[in-house]
Amino acid sequence: MKTLIEPFRIKMVESIRQTTEEQRTQILKTADYNPFTIKAEDILIDFLTDSGTGAMSDRQWAAIMMGDESYAGSRSFFRFEETVRKITGFKNVIPTHQGRAAERILFSILVKAGMKVPNNTHFDTTRANIEYNAGEAVDLVIPEGKIPSLVHPFKGNMDLKKLEEFLAKNHASVPLGMITVTNNSGGGQPVSMENIREVSRLYRKYKIPFFVDACRFAENAWFIKTREKGYENKSVLEIAQETFSYADGCTMSSKKDALVNIGGFLAMNDDVMAMQARNLLILTEGFPSYGGLAGRDLEALAVGLEEGLQEDYLCYRIRTAEYMGERLLAAGVEIIRPTGGHAVYIDARAFYPNIPVDQYPGQVLVCELYRKVGLRAVEIGTVMFGKKDPATGKDIPAGMDLVRLAFPRRVYTQSHFDYAIEGIIETFQDREQAVGLKITWEPPFLRHFTAKFAPVR
Ligand code: F0G
Repeated sequence: MKTLIEPFRIKMVESIRQTTEEQRTQILKTADYNPFTIKAEDILIDFLTDSGTGAMSDRQWAAIMMGDESYAGSRSFFRFEETVRKITGFKNVIPTHQGRAAERILFSILVKAGMKVPNNTHFDTTRANIEYNAGEAVDLVIPEGKIPSLVHPFKGNMDLKKLEEFLAKNHASVPLGMITVTNNSGGGQPVSMENIREVSRLYRKYKIPFFVDACRFAENAWFIKTREKGYENKSVLEIAQETFSYADGCTMSSKKDALVNIGGFLAMNDDVMAMQARNLLILTEGFPSYGGLAGRDLEALAVGLEEGLQEDYLCYRIRTAEYMGERLLAAGVEIIRPTGGHAVYIDARAFYPNIPVDQYPGQVLVCELYRKVGLRAVEIGTVMFGKKDPATGKDIPAGMDLVRLAFPRRVYTQSHFDYAIEGIIETFQDREQAVGLKITWEPPFLRHFTAKFAPVR
């Protein structure tokens, strides 16, 4: 059979609200052309993020009823710990309310002023938590990873030569080394096992603890299984286990590949570091057997971790992104190639060659997709990474102006994707009509969440 189906059937449904283009034009105006401030109820298809937006299974909901809400030593904690240990092999497992809490704790222990942390590409919160401790977040992805149109099976790989040179020079001020699987900020691109192994060898040569940012470890394992020689016959679980075997610990946002709406963890082998982490955990997250989560959340997380590794699910998920990519490319829409695990990234500068970079083509596309289709996506470009030139006060353009369509897990069906694809292509065909935007108000930090815009004419 050629048709790939969703490997689940639907037991509970949630209505989505149709709106007219006229209504959406008004909503967009009221939202000052920033879809972050649109009510979710007014969105038809929400591709803002794949984080915490997945649908839980009947098994997860059933597990929720088994939650043990004891303050200390809860049964649910031990179930969660056992599952994380089975997959990662790490000795110490510390629950947190989401990924960034794990990052904050880890970096508070290890990162001191002036220290440097290498990664393929740091996610925003990872970078921000390192910088908050006065450290420097260093991105060392391979050069191919920065060219959107270039096809490479593992565009998330670290540049080993650069890493080697970097460590030779800076190892004394590197408190830990990281790698992010898949590389979200670089287009959800995978990292090969060979690369993980070599990165691990380099960190170990300098006795630097190696932590995996593991949010999308199962999607990465699927890419290894389907693209890397020697892994075709290994199970995704075995591939995940091998990935973690090269590291000393991981940070995890369970809102991605663990298929829950909230949760995360920090795991590591080192007992002393784990004791320090638990001490910090108690200050702000909670006792080490719940870390800011309810017992029922830990139950759902344990089940979700196993379901996230199911191969028919991963096959359908990765293929969905690929399918959307193929259809967009065929219609002339430029995207980051090949498509990654959790999202498709449209090159907004290529989409709107008529809109100058200082009129935010990515933001224009995000607004047009909402106005015409009721679809919500996120700008990853000059609005998000905007820095000001101190001399002129003008924006320094980001390297690329991208729009990310990130896919909630097990939420939308094939026809939702077909509808989205049709809408994007129509928006592309009408591209001449789009008008640039200007910023009318912006906050001092993280402006993309709350900035206000208006059409330039
Ligand atoms: N690391 C990566 C690679 C991420 O993609 C995220 C979150 C985090 C860490 C932080 O985890 O949100 O649980 O605190 N990414 C989401 C996104 C927000 O939309 O890509 P968190």
